[in-house]
Amino acid sequence: MSLTASKRVLQHAAGRFSRNLGTRCYGVASEAQYTSSSQSLINLEYQYSAHNYHPIPMVFSHARGSSIWDPEGNKYLDFLSAYSAVNQGHCHPKIKKALIEQTEKLTLSSRAFYNDRFPVFAERITSMFGYDMVLPMNTGAEGVETALKLARKWGYEQKKIPNNEAVIVSCCGCFHGRTLAVISMSCDNEATRGFGPLLPGHLKVDFGDEVALEKMFKEHGDRIAGFLFEPIQGEAGVIVPKEGYLKAVRCLCTKYKVLMIADEIQSGLGRSGKMLACDWDEVRPDVVILGKALGGGVIPVSAVLADKEVMLCIRPGEHGSTFGGNPLASAVAVASLDVLVEEGLAERSAQLGEELRHMLTEIQHQYPNLIKEVRGRGLFTAVELNSKALSPVSAYDICLKLKERGVLAKPTHNTIIRLTPPLSLSMDELKIGTKALSEVFEFDLPKMQKEKPEHVTSTKADVCDRCGRNLYASE
Ligand SMILES: Cc1ncc(COP(=O)(O)O)c(C=O)c1O
Repeated sequence: MSLTASKRVLQHAAGRFSRNLGTRCYGVASEAQYTSSSQSLINLEYQYSAHNYHPIPMVFSHARGSSIWDPEGNKYLDFLSAYSAVNQGHCHPKIKKALIEQTEKLTLSSRAFYNDRFPVFAERITSMFGYDMVLPMNTGAEGVETALKLARKWGYEQKKIPNNEAVIVSCCGCFHGRTLAVISMSCDNEATRGFGPLLPGHLKVDFGDEVALEKMFKEHGDRIAGFLFEPIQGEAGVIVPKEGYLKAVRCLCTKYKVLMIADEIQSGLGRSGKMLACDWDEVRPDVVILGKALGGGVIPVSAVLADKEVMLCIRPGEHGSTFGGNPLASAVAVASLDVLVEEGLAERSAQLGEELRHMLTEIQHQYPNLIKEVRGRGLFTAVELNSKALSPVSAYDICLKLKERGVLAKPTHNTIIRLTPPLSLSMDELKIGTKALSEVFEFDLPKMQKEKPEHVTSTKADVCDRCGRNLYASE
């Protein structure tokens, strides 16, 4: 065989495109050569995937409930739950069954036709959350985009905002996803720099400040279509607003005829210890966006809930998605909601969350200089560290050590560790996770502080380009 021909065979086997040959070789890759070790998989991903994440170097190979195993067979406890997408626990048998059974029957119809699962899902989710209608999408960011479009449309049709002048108000420190419209509201400089021009029609207000919100509504209220907020800010570091804030928001939105739009993608579906985080303040938003755990950790499903007066502002052809409302997603979403209810996962989250914060507060008493705050609701919990006491170590370094001790958590910003295990985890697992954190502080942190060279942490990156606030200053 000539050299070129044998090269072609090799590339064919790997199913890759050779720029030199100028031909595409569509083949089936042999997986065996890659899947041997965590390191080879990490290297493979680094070589062939965009570098748009900075993961903790741990490879998921299989998982069940709160446990995850890497390819070498090491077991870990999940304290992130894929950012709350696996509230029900990994590979839940009921959700898996729904997925497999539906896969045998029908997976996709597109909305060019009807299918026999979506209407059932639509009825189930609207009756469960008490809204007239649902608009199904796939990812969370698409759900947020949908809500923004819905608010603008409602603003023009119902509120009579002059054409093209509708404004959405969002909160400093918010996170609603990664699409252009969504990053146009972001305070995260990394997410926005280099991606301009951003979309106009956005105003920012401090989260938790109803006085500032009313001032903004007074000044610009005739053009404001919606106020978009997370009832508990997740990516900002599990920021819980003061009691009564959401009630005040409800009153202001009603008074100034602004749609109250709750992004419950991360905070909802039991995560905070209630089915919706807005339930803590007993308020009913005009629009609710759900995602993540709606797909039970197996498939992306998002949904926007609203009443007819709002939802019917969007008409056929004006919005949609090929996969939104597909029968597979619909079957999985119904099972995912069933599991949350049948297993009382919101209540479980409330109880275990209390326990978790109690244990973390005890650790805080041991390290009062290091732990600035323990906060959260339900199993939506974070530990904020004091940057001076932590320096030169970061929350990311702490998470690396946690991983070595068999617990997977993720930092947000330099000093905050988010602890959000599956809501189905056991009390023993909760204790194991908390003990690991305590051991990292006791044994690993002093060593890391000795070994890691001093560095000056720039606070510049934390000053928001859009509103100029120093969002994540630790002191
Ligand atoms: C509150 C909130 N909204 C929206 C999103 C975006 O969801 P997705 O990553 O599925 O697009 C996230 C993701 O973390 C989120 O936490």
